[in-house]
Amino acid sequence: MHTLVLGAAVAVLGACGDNLADDELRQGGARTVDDRTREAFTHPLPGLEDGQLERHRLGRGPFGFQWMAPQLGPLFNHDACVACHAGNGRGLSQIGPSVFGSQSLIRVSLASGTPSVPGGPVPVPEYGTQLQDHAVLGLPEVRVTLTWIDRNTQYGDGEPVTLREPRIVVTRPDGSALPPFDMSYRQAPPVFGLGLLEAVADDTLRALADPDDADGDGISGRVNEVWDEVARATRIGRFGHKASVATLVEQTAGAFVNDMGLTNRMFPEGDGMTDVSGMQLDQTIFFTATLAVPAAAPRDGAAVRGRGLFDDFGCASCHTPTLVTGDSHPIPQLRGQTIHPYTDLLLHDVGDDLTDARRDFLAEGVEWRTPPLWGLGLTMVVEPEATFLHDGRARTVAEAILWHGGEAEAAREAFRLATRRDREALIAFLATL
Ligand code: HEC
Ligand code: HEC
Repeated sequence: MHTLVLGAAVAVLGACGDNLADDELRQGGARTVDDRTREAFTHPLPGLEDGQLERHRLGRGPFGFQWMAPQLGPLFNHDACVACHAGNGRGLSQIGPSVFGSQSLIRVSLASGTPSVPGGPVPVPEYGTQLQDHAVLGLPEVRVTLTWIDRNTQYGDGEPVTLREPRIVVTRPDGSALPPFDMSYRQAPPVFGLGLLEAVADDTLRALADPDDADGDGISGRVNEVWDEVARATRIGRFGHKASVATLVEQTAGAFVNDMGLTNRMFPEGDGMTDVSGMQLDQTIFFTATLAVPAAAPRDGAAVRGRGLFDDFGCASCHTPTLVTGDSHPIPQLRGQTIHPYTDLLLHDVGDDLTDARRDFLAEGVEWRTPPLWGLGLTMVVEPEATFLHDGRARTVAEAILWHGGEAEAAREAFRLATRRDREALIAFLATL
């Protein structure tokens, strides 16, 4: 992370008054809601006008709707946005033929060849860049099985921990082998607060980036540069685990067509027909851009200490506590907000243990987008079975930290080798988010 920007962020915080901890609890700035129940991620931004509120409520329809044939499919992963983003939170690391739909999905590509969009992944013949493991009629594209392999490690004080990692096997529906291609298995991230992340100015992200680690702190985040189908230009990527999508427009239109087989204005059928109307698409995009961020819980003594350790261990170098949104987002309520998402939206090398060995625009296998940590403590309130990291391998927040490597190895080791009391304090802080 670039020190100049750190200075700027501190100056912004200083301007908010002396009670820094209290300010940080309003994680979405003025777009924060006070709800830490299982409904926490379901609220529209405070401050929407009547017409906007109506649009948000209409967008909840197509997001929650269980689509059926003839719109659904013919190939799909699941039949509703909310089936993978339950309560607008994250999905389960669950995939395979035994259930009606899969809550996670597999992106695929070839290591070389001609990409379908400039700079993007190279589609696999027959399969494109995403596998659909379900079909309305007949056989799906593939059969996927997921199993978990245990791996043992220990804390500095000798306390043992068992981690687990996924093994994905993909075959043709009849069980026969497929030609080799690159695969990336991903679970669904939460969808609240994304309008605010979209509203952070490109310049802010570029200033946070330090691709050559010029400041020598061992942390060299960089932006992903991705193809924006609407602008027909290359832009900074923000969404998805590899920041491979630039806008909520494209993320939403892409989810309709790829995850559910629902054609739309951006991705129509050959004859120009669509399953989803232009109005439904726009309402769903507006809905995903206008979900509020829950306030953090008040911090007790342990959590206050944990907040300090979050800085001391180096977590904050990537999980940037404070960002200020820019002044050009089309939704005025998203502009000029001081937010606490704990992300820089940049790509970081977090080590070989987490690699998917697949390139996604500029992102290499070992690189992932720093995920926002706001709402982290509500994860299991919203979905008791939910798990962490891009593929859901981590069953607890502590396991998620123990998987960090690469540029985050020093931070992980600081946590792993800390006293039990300090580890618990850090976890107590993260539980307040
Ligand atoms: C089959 C499960 C599934 C369905 C159905 C699904 N999603 Fe997702 N969603 C995912 C996964 C997996 C990702 C992460 C994709 C990646 O990393 O490339 C994701 C990512 C997202 C993101 C980006 C979140 C972020 O933090 O960057 C948004 C927004 C989103 N989905 C919205 C939707 C909408 C809207 C729909 C319905 C039109 C939908 N999703 C349907 C699984 C699903
Ligand atoms: C070098 C940058 C970097 C540092 C330093 C770092 N992280 Fe992360 N963190 C990431 C990235 C990138 C991911 C996503 C990895 C993945 O999904 O495989 C992540 C994922 C996480 C997750 C899982 C979030 C979720 O929604 O599933 C948690 C929790 C987390 N980090 C906490 C921490 C803590 C606590 C520290 C300090 C001990 C820390 N991180 C240090 C970059 C970093």
